[in-house]
Amino acid sequence: MDCFEITGPGRLSGRIQAAGAKNAALPALAATLLSEGTVELRGLPLVRDIRTMARLLEHLGTSVESDGDSVRLTPSGTAVADDADYELVKTMRASILALGPLVARLGHARVSLPGGCAIGVRPIDQHLAGLEALGAEVTLEHGYVTAKADRLVGNRFRFAVPTVTGTENLLMASCLARGTTVLENCAREPEIADLARLLTSMGANIDGAGQDRIEIQGVDRLGSASHRIIADRIEGGTYLVGAAITGGDVTLEHASSADLAPLLEVLEQAGCTVEAEPDQVRVAVDGPLEATSIETSPHPGFPTDLQAQYMALMTQAQGRCSVHETVFENRFQHVPELVRMGAAIEVDGGYAWIEGPSRLSGAHVMATDLRASASLVLAGLVASGTTVVHRIYHLDRGYEGMEEKLRRLGAEVERTSE
Ligand code: UD1
Repeated sequence: MDCFEITGPGRLSGRIQAAGAKNAALPALAATLLSEGTVELRGLPLVRDIRTMARLLEHLGTSVESDGDSVRLTPSGTAVADDADYELVKTMRASILALGPLVARLGHARVSLPGGCAIGVRPIDQHLAGLEALGAEVTLEHGYVTAKADRLVGNRFRFAVPTVTGTENLLMASCLARGTTVLENCAREPEIADLARLLTSMGANIDGAGQDRIEIQGVDRLGSASHRIIADRIEGGTYLVGAAITGGDVTLEHASSADLAPLLEVLEQAGCTVEAEPDQVRVAVDGPLEATSIETSPHPGFPTDLQAQYMALMTQAQGRCSVHETVFENRFQHVPELVRMGAAIEVDGGYAWIEGPSRLSGAHVMATDLRASASLVLAGLVASGTTVVHRIYHLDRGYEGMEEKLRRLGAEVERTSE
């Protein structure tokens, strides 16, 4: 297993580019299952979750031709497998995204119940209730979900909670349903609007993606398309928090400042200099940071996927503040590790209280999930001495060449084998 050895304290400065968004690329890959032609996706991040999804599509009969960060996908048509097997999907919850497209296109699907980050119970009841509303017969057996329908039929469905992959699953499925589907209380993350752009270029008829009410007029078939994935606001945001925590100065290129706005507003309140242009953002710090409380919530609120990184930052700010996690329970696994490095953090239910600034010192710490791992790397950048972050396979699921990007910004980071 690989680990990161970080020698600190360091200061990040310079320019880097955000990778393509993992959480936009995953549904885009799944959406290709709906197509009767070849779909080209450009700007994919070179991370493990994307390779896993591509392997899953191959298993389902899709021909996958990769060329750097582009991929051409041709599903094999009606005679493909409909089974997303446990061994392939156990590491990645997003494999549930195959369910909607498969049942819409083939009339039947069998997908292993998802694994992925251990950050809470993470049910998929809304995905299943939505497919049932479109007429699918859904059963759960032996760790698999089976969904069947001769042809899905458009309907009105209201999500009990706004779910990102749930909205994406239903959006994809309803593109091939007969008639009109209205989805209400949808998640509004930018990755959903990106998926709708891809589906529209494949021939779908969608109105309102990125808002809480989406209306889809079903079509009989979807075809070829070429689509570029949006920039990763979470990956990019992590490096901007890296600039802030190290008192640095980083310009993120190929980024959407609009998508990053919930983070940028808070960084500015905390005392960072933020210069935002439509497709690039600079964050710089030249004075003390002020403790600033946040609450995570669905977009356009503060993203739960940046909560752990932000908490690492608040260990360096002056005063006491809280981080309230409202999206997932059990998403504070980074706290004991940050405390081992010298942070003063107390957890009370969904709240973490942080008292800063703390002098962090390098230690051996354990990565537990994708974003928690990123927060430990950020803490390592500002800690004195050597921090060894173990189990960085979690990081490799979602960060493309993190150690190279950090080195380019001046950090001392090495990948070593344990
Ligand atoms: C997606 C992102 C993940 C991010 C999360 C929240 C992808 C591949 N992953 O995950 O990085 O942290 O959004 O922004 O895009 N819920 C239910 N029933 C359901 C579905 C969800 O109760 O059927 C609950 C969850 O337990 C959670 C909340 O809804 O409390 C939001 O989860 P959801 O938006 O579904 O997260 P994911 O789509 O899995």
